[in-house]
Parts: sequence; structure tokens; C-alpha cells
Amino acid sequence: MLTVHNKVSDATNFFGNTNPVDLVKQYGSPLYVYNENILRERCRELKNLLDYPNFSVNYSVKANGNLSLLKIVREEGLNADAMSPGEIFVELKAGFKPEQILYISNNVSKEEMQYAIDRDILISVDSLSQLESYGKINNGGRVCIRFNPGVGAGHHEKVVTGGKKTKFGVDPSFIPQVKEIIAKYSLRLVGINQHIGSLFMEGDKYVEGVKSILSIAENFDNLEFVDMGGGFGIPYKKLNGQERLDLQDLGKRLDKVLYDWTNKYGKKVTFKIEPGRYIAAECGVLLGTVHSIKENYGMKYIGTDLGFNVLKRPVMYDSHHDVEIFRESDIPSTKSEVVNIVGNICESGDIIARERELPEIFEDDIINVLDAGAYGYCMASNYNNRLRPAEVLITSSGEAKLIRRRDTLEDLVRNF
Ligand code: LLP
Repeated sequence: MLTVHNKVSDATNFFGNTNPVDLVKQYGSPLYVYNENILRERCRELKNLLDYPNFSVNYSVKANGNLSLLKIVREEGLNADAMSPGEIFVELKAGFKPEQILYISNNVSKEEMQYAIDRDILISVDSLSQLESYGKINNGGRVCIRFNPGVGAGHHEKVVTGGKKTKFGVDPSFIPQVKEIIAKYSLRLVGINQHIGSLFMEGDKYVEGVKSILSIAENFDNLEFVDMGGGFGIPYKKLNGQERLDLQDLGKRLDKVLYDWTNKYGKKVTFKIEPGRYIAAECGVLLGTVHSIKENYGMKYIGTDLGFNVLKRPVMYDSHHDVEIFRESDIPSTKSEVVNIVGNICESGDIIARERELPEIFEDDIINVLDAGAYGYCMASNYNNRLRPAEVLITSSGEAKLIRRRDTLEDLVRNF
């Protein structure tokens, strides 16, 4: 096998004792591949974020809910957040205890609330009306509230979740009404949370958001925890030398704010974070195969099986993912070219990598899309009645292990 362009996966020994060409032969193309060592390393980095002792990392399972990966995350001592009964279901299956799960709900039915209550899972509600509904069905219960601190941050307008123009959280000016509802149903407000948005590479907005949620927390006695949210970014443009988020600096700044604040509050609360992408993105890649190459009006198109049914991020948020190239034959690329790498979906927006300068690509080459472990498989669909790929884990010993089978054609008609 020829490694035409593989700096990043080489540096991390991503594929262990195997390689992309053999993996695709064995498990089909496209294929999601995860590396256990990298996943564990990311969990550990975040667990060590703070010096402050009462600290927990809730993995935000929406980023990647594969059961085998969840079990690893749990082994690493992380807790989990959930967005739906489905996520609660897989988290319990992965062995998380009810008290390790926080259900961060948004516009949910009473049945969904009941699902969590029946399993002793704490719910965070994000409006006055949902707090009222919760009080009616769980009088005297413990509850958490999501606030919107009025600041937001994120890599794209669609993922900025805090701020004055989003649907999330309770506006702090309604704190008097929150208190009334809590008293009316004898609820115990044990925690408050926020999430201002996804993918920050500099800590400023996050620290600012933390200060805001802490000033909101001062309105409530007896909180057990404050959840500061996720959003920790990863460098998607590694090949251009993009730097990592400076966790050490962020940790120091947060420690200062948190120690100062707890002294003032007079009680040691637990601080939580809820990262998804930071844990899962870099441990996952997406492999695909080049099936056709053509030139249309001066632009070269590399036609692959990497449609936006398998990775939606580039189409939905104009997201950048670096790509690598592997080749079974030993014919070298002798020049580089600017190309669009496109998928097999019947839409002109179906472009996974736009105007990239890469070594010449040939038919049957394997394209390796980096940093696809978060919001990759979980946002994949059967659009165009395409099959969702298999998922494979490269274990710590370097062997490949199937952790989700590929869809079959029968899966497409399973619910009829
Ligand atoms: N907590 C809450 C309440 C959230 O809504 C989210 C993400 C997270 C935590 C985790 O955020 P993270 O640490 O992963 O940034 N599909 C988009 C990202 C959507 C994020 C939605 N909420 C993407 O591919 O960029």
C-alpha cells in the first residue's frame, strides 16, 4: 500500500496493525474507524482540566453514541449528558448509573420527562412552562434548570446556543417566576446549567459564560452543582498548522474563577462540563473510495462514495475536514492539483472537500476524512436510500474490531 498523503494518521499510528485499504476490503466502503488510544487520551485530558476537586466531565453523547465507545468513556470515569430517552437508553446500556446521567431536555413531552423520572435520572428543564410541567408530574422532586446567560459562541450560526436570539435556556430576568414555580411544587433546585455554543478555540467567551452562570447561581441557595457547558474545540485544520485549544491556560483561568466564587458562595458545589466534540472528534475518521474522476468546466471532481448521507458537516455548516490519501497500487502521484472531492448523492451541494490542493488522486484510491468522530455517524442518514456505514474500532492493541455493522438493504424496509 502506498501512503500518498498521511501525515496526521501516521503521527498518531491511527490504524495500528492494520491499514485503510485492508479495512475497506474487509468492512466495506464508506467506513467509520475509531482509535481507542486517542479516545482515552481525550477523556483524560479533560478530566485533568481543573485543579478544583469537585469536578466532573459529562460526555455529551449526542456527538457519538456508539455503545462500544460509550463503554470506554465510562471506563475512563466520565459521566454523561443525554438529550433524549434514546440517549438515556444507550447510556444505561453502556453501564452508566442513573446518578451519572443528566438529561438536558428541550421542549419534551410529559412522557419523556416521565421516562427519566422513572429511572431516577435528573432532568434539566429549559423553560418556565417545562418547569411547571415537571412540577406537576414530579411534585417535591429534584430538578435542574438551564439558563441562557445572554452570551453565545460557536463555529456557525446554527450551533450558537446561548445569546439573545436562540431558543435555549431560561432568560435570567425570569428568576422570580422560577422561584415561584419551585415553591409551588416544592421542587429542589439542585443544579443549573448552560451551553453557550459549540467549537471554541480560545477560552475567552467560555470564561465569560462561566462568570455569567455563576452570577445567576448566586440567586439560589443549596445548589449541588453548576454545569458550565461544552463546546471545547478541536483543530480541524491541522494540515495548515492550526493550534490546539490551550487547555492548560483555560483550566488555570477557570480554577481562579471557581475557587474565588465558591469562597463567596460559602459551599463547595460540583462543577461540570459537558463536552462532546473534544472527546470524540479526533478519535474517528471516515474512509471512502474514489470511483470516478472528471473535469467539468475547468474544475476537477473526485467522485467518491462519501455523500453527505455519511458526513453531513461540510454541507450543513460549511465545515472543513482535512483529508488524506491511501493507494493500493504503488503508482506514485507526480503532481498536485486543486480538486473538489464530492459524494454520490443527487444534490449539487454534495461536496465533502472543496478546492483542496492535493497530490494527484486516482480511481480506487482511499480517501481518509479526518476528525470525523463527532457529529459524523450520529448525523448520518439513509438519504437516497443509501446504507449507513459500519463502524470499526482500532483497539489499544492495534487490532480492528467491528463495533457496528453496516446497514443492509433489508434495513431499509424494516419498518414497513
Ligand atoms: N451540551 C449541550 C446542551 C449541547 O447542546 C451540546 C451540543 C453540547 C453540550 C456539546 O457540544 P460540543 O462540546 O460537542 O461542542 N452538529 C454540530 C454541533 C452541534 C452541537 C449541538 N449541541 C457540528 O457538527 O458541529
